[in-house]
Amino acid sequence: MFLWNGELVSEEEIQVSYNDRGYYFGDGVYEVFRIYRGQLFEKQAHMKRLYQSMHLVRIHVPWDEEALAAKLDELAADFGNGDGYLYLQITRGAAPRTHTIPDQIDPVMLGYCEPYASPISQIKQGIPAMTTEDIRWHQCNIKSLNLLPNTLARQQAKEAGAEEAIFIREGMVTEGSASNLFIVTGGVIRTHPADRLILEGITRQVIERIAEEEGIPFENTACSQDELMAADEVFLTSTTREITPVISIDNQPIGSGTPGPVTRQLQEAFNRFKL
Ligand code: PDD
Repeated sequence: MFLWNGELVSEEEIQVSYNDRGYYFGDGVYEVFRIYRGQLFEKQAHMKRLYQSMHLVRIHVPWDEEALAAKLDELAADFGNGDGYLYLQITRGAAPRTHTIPDQIDPVMLGYCEPYASPISQIKQGIPAMTTEDIRWHQCNIKSLNLLPNTLARQQAKEAGAEEAIFIREGMVTEGSASNLFIVTGGVIRTHPADRLILEGITRQVIERIAEEEGIPFENTACSQDELMAADEVFLTSTTREITPVISIDNQPIGSGTPGPVTRQLQEAFNRFKL
């Protein structure tokens, strides 16, 4: 089943207008929720971020947070007890193409679930990454459908034999193309502050909580590209990647070139947390 404008329907009932502003302008926002054994992981935090994104781009939906969350539960229940993810997007709606926002426009919502399993070997062995210039706008805190800089960076990484692109803005590390980035130096975890230059990941929030529980110092401070390359450990986090060690960047090994002890400690704690 699909969630279509607040109703659970079959695929045949979905009709997207050629005038949809998501299609013309990428005018919309989205969320990716993880499903572990049929349960939506950190649902409340995702809902909060979704409504915050909508608020910031001035999309007004006729569903309050609670009503929409109940619909997502129905969608997840239809998916069953397996592992997967729930994709949800809300565009501003359909209207003849003009840059200004029409006074009367109904948002268009689409949601669905897909089976998905964590990339275990990458999570265990780590991945190579590459750095690239952060050419995005200054409101990366909004989970917007405008993902062209992200997809281009990711493609660039793929063509260079890397698994993720790490964005560098004016010499400082911001985040990955679809993940948050952390370094570990002298036992201290550091990540870019949750300001307008990054998306505040839900997994990132979980890491901050876990680090506190584990007694690992955690700093919300940006690091330079030089500090990134000299770090003892680097890892990235997202709903789909969980905690993935980065073992080389731009073909240079990070630390010992294998997943480090702090990263592994966090992975173990995360595995307990998601149960
Ligand atoms: N992306 N930063 C960016 C730019 C992202 O696109 C994502 C997630 C994250 C991590 O956020 P979270 O921990 O809430 O997943 C950080 C999703 C998974 C995607 O676009 O598919």
